[in-house]
Amino acid sequence: MTVFNIITLFPKMFDGLFDSSILFKARKKGIIDIRIKDLRSFGLGMHRVVDDSPYGGGGGMVLKPEPIALAVKDIEGGAGYVILTTPRGRLLTQSDVLRLSKKNVITIICGHYEGVDERVSELFVHEEISIGDYVLTGGEIPAMVIVDAVSRLIPNVLGRDPFSTGDSHYNGLLEYPQYTRPEEFMGRSVPDVLLSGNHKQIHLWRRKMALKKTRETRPDLFKMLTLSKADIDLLEEE
Ligand code: ADE
Repeated sequence: MTVFNIITLFPKMFDGLFDSSILFKARKKGIIDIRIKDLRSFGLGMHRVVDDSPYGGGGGMVLKPEPIALAVKDIEGGAGYVILTTPRGRLLTQSDVLRLSKKNVITIICGHYEGVDERVSELFVHEEISIGDYVLTGGEIPAMVIVDAVSRLIPNVLGRDPFSTGDSHYNGLLEYPQYTRPEEFMGRSVPDVLLSGNHKQIHLWRRKMALKKTRETRPDLFKMLTLSKADIDLLEEE
């Protein structure tokens, strides 16, 4: 079983998400467990204070280190691999997700306000993760993103092998186009090759479309590919 601990000021934000669909089934089957820890309950004093103004001035509030330290220490069985969600973190990629899917216990500290006291990172955090180059109101949605992306790679969470398909970001490519019935929709037909039953041709077509889509939409990913002679030939067709 993989355990995810989430330390958050907004536990209610997680209602619903983990109670539906694939993650809910994975929890019921005992493959994953998601434990939400309310940071407020570790706040200081009568008012359960969790934040304060930054030393050196500037706007906003900073999350204090003590409540986070208490919350981390309070995790039964230990916090395991500790992540802080912050726009200052390294950008999450599918290879990070794969690496994280091998951990037994992951604790995610949801960053908030203008930031988190730097000593939290120094003392408790193994990795700071950002989910994109934009700023959200808090680290809860990034925590959900991490739990979701990591969970689907844990064996038996999906009803299929998450590694056996052409999913986007598997192999560094974006996924080829998919079609299902009907064969014609609003004047647009499913490409003939997909109806041909010729698996070799289908495989080549899918590879070509994945390469083209990646080149068009994500030139940054395309540049990192090592293309085979066959790939180059596919791209030169037409
Ligand atoms: N908190 C606010 N924005 C974020 C982002 N892009 N990634 C991770 N945590 C965040």
